[in-house]
Amino acid sequence: MEKQPLYEGKAKQIYATDKAEEVLVYYRDDATAFNGEKKGTILNKGILNNRISSFFFRLLTEQGIPNHFISMPSDREMLVKSLKILQVEVVVRNIAAGSLAKRIGWEEGRKLPAPVVELYYKNDELGDPLINHFHIQALRLATAEQVAAMEQSALKINDILTGYLKEKDIELIDFKLEFGLYQGQVILGDEISPDTCRFWDSKTGEKLDKDRFRRDLGKVEDAYKEVLHRLTGEVL
Ligand code: C5P
Repeated sequence: MEKQPLYEGKAKQIYATDKAEEVLVYYRDDATAFNGEKKGTILNKGILNNRISSFFFRLLTEQGIPNHFISMPSDREMLVKSLKILQVEVVVRNIAAGSLAKRIGWEEGRKLPAPVVELYYKNDELGDPLINHFHIQALRLATAEQVAAMEQSALKINDILTGYLKEKDIELIDFKLEFGLYQGQVILGDEISPDTCRFWDSKTGEKLDKDRFRRDLGKVEDAYKEVLHRLTGEVL
């Protein structure tokens, strides 16, 4: 009998392991957008996102950012620390795009004077609404200290990733992070991939991320492959 996942997400499954403090993440090729309204598959996305996320988590570990990554046992599997995920999504933005561009009436591509951190309620039924510190306290999603830890870590991660990607001719427009509790500490979980970040080619402005799927721009798989290639030199 096939092993049942502990949790089934929109693009990943989580499986128990022999150790209570570790779980296995399985990356699938499924792609969704607009809170699951648009569905599709991106060939080899699971492999590409697992490799790209593993690369970023290793980089962040080297830079002293606590995260859930342990190892990448296979092309679609990531072994991670088992976290109690906080139901808050943290978005960091350097350049206006997507929902922020709409909300504040800026054209996409306009640089923000300083990084903007946003908090969203991780709740599929509600479509992940934008919330603030007051909502988080009212909903008891995290303590004020945990929110501060997430925001500080998110800004540090932004510095590390922005600098690294610039050398690869990739502009980090914005990205989403999820954090969880592990032995009482707030640590980074989930993934960092073209599904959860906006990457634009620094020279041409070409989109190298999930907006190609969301907006039907074509060459979706090629964009993900290009990101992996620029980061690691690997060709898939
Ligand atoms: O759609 P929006 O502009 O708010 O997205 C900001 C960033 O967060 C984008 O990089 C997007 O890929 C990411 N995001 C995500 N998961 C969500 C919402 C946004 O990864 N549920």
